[in-house]
Amino acid sequence: GKDGYRHYMEKELHEHPLVIGQTLQRMVDPATRKVVLPPLPCDLATIPRGVITACGSAYYAGMIGRYWLEEIARLPIDIDVASELRYRNPPLTPGSLGMLISQSGETADTLAALRALKAIGLPVLSVLNAEHSTMARESDLVLGTVAGPEISVASTKAFTAQLTVLACLTIAMGRARGTLDEAGEDELVTALLDLPGKAAEVFSHQADIRKMAGIVAEARDVLYLGRGSAYPVAMEGALKLKEISYIHAEAYAAGEMKHGPISLIDRTVPIVATIPSGPLFEKTLSNLQEAKARGGRLLAFTDEAGAERLSAIAEHTIALPEVHPFVTPVIQTIGVQILAYETALLKGTDVDQPRNLAKSVTVE
Ligand code: M6R
Repeated sequence: GKDGYRHYMEKELHEHPLVIGQTLQRMVDPATRKVVLPPLPCDLATIPRGVITACGSAYYAGMIGRYWLEEIARLPIDIDVASELRYRNPPLTPGSLGMLISQSGETADTLAALRALKAIGLPVLSVLNAEHSTMARESDLVLGTVAGPEISVASTKAFTAQLTVLACLTIAMGRARGTLDEAGEDELVTALLDLPGKAAEVFSHQADIRKMAGIVAEARDVLYLGRGSAYPVAMEGALKLKEISYIHAEAYAAGEMKHGPISLIDRTVPIVATIPSGPLFEKTLSNLQEAKARGGRLLAFTDEAGAERLSAIAEHTIALPEVHPFVTPVIQTIGVQILAYETALLKGTDVDQPRNLAKSVTVE
């Protein structure tokens, strides 16, 4: 049941801290604080490239995984949505590792992409919530997201569990490839172990996020902006808003705004910014200042360190808990998912069963 929550989505949002913790328990040895992976179908130290594919929210998790794997483990990544990858016939590098991500393990496009990767001889590692699914059977290795059943059509907790697995995979990859030393690994593992508590703290901002939702719910169009690993978070926020509130939303890499979407900006198009403090903060802030100067109404998800600068220009600023820059996308994601939920409540839509959508898309 819903355990007293109004919707499955609300219940599942509140399970973020739990599922991140459970997934970490599966992947991090508590005694050594090292990431431990099951036997792999390839040698992480020598693979030349990785290929990531998935659909919808799982694809956005993969995009965050790409930022991590490239930056921390120096593994070049090709990434595409499964429905494109399977028909693109890309000239993939022999010996690459295929990686796919799926909550259900039954999504037709992702399954077809899995078969296409296997057909050209790549080993496939799958990040799956349904460990007895078709994809689980056909993969060379399954890394399980320990999120439990997800009922709401809009994915929430499965997404942060996917990020948790991808973060652990990145650490293991960095160690194997010599890009991460002991101290570096320890720093990142500490950041991950810190996450369940920090994720729980996000809910202390729910009332403020509801005020933000008041502005979003009045809009016909909403722009989401972010840079770096906060860009896929913006995409996840926009998708979730579209899915359950039926408000049109688009995400852009903040630096792309001036190449087109800036012409949309006026008082009627709120801008939701995912802008954690860290190396990309200043650059994103100046993009937001440009939007503000053109009459845009800014709604910002930042953290304690970024809040002062943002509250000077934004109508609403959410100071999410401070975390290591590595894991900011996890905390930011919970914020934008709550915003979509609160907006849907104001719109009175069927939150758990939005129109035209199925939980598991088993047609191509
Ligand atoms: O079961 P999967 O993770 O393969 O599903 C992929 C997408 O269909 C899914 O993430 C979809 O985008 C969600 N409804 C997003 O909330």
